[in-house]
Amino acid sequence: MKPTLTYIEDLARRAGEILRSGYGQQHEIGYKGEADLVTEVDHASEVLILGELMRQFPEHRILSEETGEHSGDAEHVWYIDPLDGTLNYAHGMQTFCVSIAYEHGGQLQLAAVYDPMANELFSAERGRGAWLNGEPMRVTNPPSLRESLLVTGFPYDVRTSPRNNFAEFQAFSMRSQGVRRLGSAALDLCYVAAGRLDGYWQLKLSAWDLAAGALLVQEAGGVATGVLGQAEFLAQQNGILAASPALHAEMLAVLQSLA
Ligand code: IPD
Ligand code: CA
Ligand code: CA
Repeated sequence: MKPTLTYIEDLARRAGEILRSGYGQQHEIGYKGEADLVTEVDHASEVLILGELMRQFPEHRILSEETGEHSGDAEHVWYIDPLDGTLNYAHGMQTFCVSIAYEHGGQLQLAAVYDPMANELFSAERGRGAWLNGEPMRVTNPPSLRESLLVTGFPYDVRTSPRNNFAEFQAFSMRSQGVRRLGSAALDLCYVAAGRLDGYWQLKLSAWDLAAGALLVQEAGGVATGVLGQAEFLAQQNGILAASPALHAEMLAVLQSLA
């Protein structure tokens, strides 16, 4: 069987149901860093997704946040974030989701991000488009950066690393209508794809945070690159810059001026 959009949409909904039913319960919290948490629900969601993919596609390679790399044919790669927004989740904030992407021959092909609290399924297929609960999505086309609403996130090493996003946050706060900080990279990208937010940047992210959301933005008519315009943003942790083509160019100039 070849992976299809319906297949990953269904998988995202099933994993999202695990997140929804665990929401608001008492959690077993593990610490990967001072502010980098993992709960038993991250693991339960991952067990469901990996079990399903390994049964259906035993030869495929999988990169999944909590268990890392499962080796396989590099022609077929899955990027899994079983719960994106764990810090929100553990605190009882409702901004979180599950994110699944499938890449074939080095190109992202399919994406599904599901927010179970809002019952919003964002999905995309290369060359066919991007949808929110089945309705086509488009990025916005704001007249300029000055009239745009942006979103960003800060890295977990914000207390110790000089690459902490503070200068970028200040620069964009002075040049836009505002900068939001939601706590889920996958949903940040979905909201840009859906036209709720105009642009998103973040300095350090892993492939599982970005893969699905990047395809969603591209299929909704936007541009997704590394923060300095790198075409390669999945494997090399170049962060992400995602927006409509014109806004992307304007934001890129700001990021380059700070690099
Ligand atoms: C995190 C979220 C957050 C971003 C972090 C990610 P997690 O993912 O996407 O918005 O700022 O860099 O690691 O740990 O909740 O899956
Ligand atoms: Ca994540
Ligand atoms: Ca996660």
